[in-house]
Amino acid sequence: MPLPTNPLQMVHLGPRKKRSRQMGASMVCPSHDVKFQDLVLYILEKKMGTTRRAFLMELARRKGFRVENELSDSITHIVAENNSGSEVLEWLQGQNHKASSQLELLDVSWLIESMAAGTPVEMTGKHQLVKRDYSASPSPELQKTPPLVIKKISQYACQRRTTLNNCNQIFTDAFDVLAENYEFRENEVFCLAFMRAASVLKSLPFTIISMKDTEGIPCLEDKVKCIIEEIIEDGESSEVKAVLNDERYQSFKLFTSVFGVGLKTSEKWFRMGYRTLNKIKLDKTLKFTPMQKAGFLYYEDLVSCVTREEAEAVGMLVKEAVWAFLPEAFVTMTGGFRRGKKIGHDVDFLITSPGSRDEDEEQLLPKVINLWERKRVDSGKCSQQEGKTWKAIRVDLVMCPYERRAFALLGWTGSRQFERDIRRYATHERKMILDNHALYDKTKKIFLKAESEEEIFAHLGLDYIEPWERNA
Ligand code: UTP
Ligand code: MG
Repeated sequence: MPLPTNPLQMVHLGPRKKRSRQMGASMVCPSHDVKFQDLVLYILEKKMGTTRRAFLMELARRKGFRVENELSDSITHIVAENNSGSEVLEWLQGQNHKASSQLELLDVSWLIESMAAGTPVEMTGKHQLVKRDYSASPSPELQKTPPLVIKKISQYACQRRTTLNNCNQIFTDAFDVLAENYEFRENEVFCLAFMRAASVLKSLPFTIISMKDTEGIPCLEDKVKCIIEEIIEDGESSEVKAVLNDERYQSFKLFTSVFGVGLKTSEKWFRMGYRTLNKIKLDKTLKFTPMQKAGFLYYEDLVSCVTREEAEAVGMLVKEAVWAFLPEAFVTMTGGFRRGKKIGHDVDFLITSPGSRDEDEEQLLPKVINLWERKRVDSGKCSQQEGKTWKAIRVDLVMCPYERRAFALLGWTGSRQFERDIRRYATHERKMILDNHALYDKTKKIFLKAESEEEIFAHLGLDYIEPWERNA
């Protein structure tokens, strides 16, 4: 399905040159009624040209907008075309005009959409050339920062807020397929390029509808931009289509859907000519790891996603078992569910207990597994599938020393791209090493302590990003 066309193309703006010659830029049109009293528009001539500006001014006035000829303090909205936010700000500076915090700098698409709608449409991220930065705390520092902050998107996911509200799914789904295909082909560079591109698009508060919208967005390499362009024009990407129909991709996708099967095993089975799981299961010459055996045995259960309700129920079981051995332990759900996801491929838990000793930590997980094993035997439940009243769910349990809990929590909450980027940021921007256990400052040659995730972000000089904003 093709994307909606650029609103610029949807409005017929009439014969530009011929008519606009008759209208000087300084023409005043007092005859039109002003319908929207609160808005005072100024249309920037820079890069737009005199004739088009005059034409838009006349049209806007006819539609009931108040449009001023001259720049003044009464202007509430500046409309520009083919200008970035920084270019408009620079121009304003050149005019000695102090941009007040109320001034909106907008792309012409807002005016055109508004004129088409007959009323000012809501200003969204795709219209706004700059956004106001309200994220900083209202400290005296705020007074020093300029009221308008240029919308600059960081190349690091740990400096972006990425909720589950993805405005660009049509592109990110395509990138996910391509990244996965490159992963299957062990092409790390291209795989990472598409994962980064998907990640940055997930953080945008607007949908990309034209290539102009991609300007200034980092992590979009030429290869990526080609795919975006194709999707904008045709509604789909031929490369993605080809990958989805590719035998190798389909086989790897199927094989890796079995718990315990990675790229090496998939490669082996593919080379052996296998294309279905049934044939693989029947091959007596193949040796399966215990994980793969479980993967085949509970295949149907494990490929169906875990719901939040199921995750909560598992949480109760985990707590009950852990508290039988460590009554003071904290059990926290991490991974995707902590980031607010409604479904997951597994349920991740972090366990930590104040005052626990090394041996308590080492023994806890075997003890918990043992307890569950005994319960399973006592209840007469077995791995038999017929008439079963239970569902196999993958659960990841992580136990960590109490003083490292903040690092473990940050590390196991994900997303994977968020983790990749916060580590990359630590290394390249702060000369620090971050992992699931600690943060090391290479300059000071010390380990930095932290009691909470907030403290780790502060050590790294990063604004705090909430778990539900880490869906990069
Ligand atoms: P998951 O693979 O469970 O991903 O790892 P998820 O984000 O919960 O998404 P689902 O499960 O597919 O719905 C959770 C986090 O744990 C960390 C990663 O940061 C990941 O984001 N992790 C996972 C590790 O640090 N090491 C590992 O070996 C696995
Ligand atoms: Mg998970």
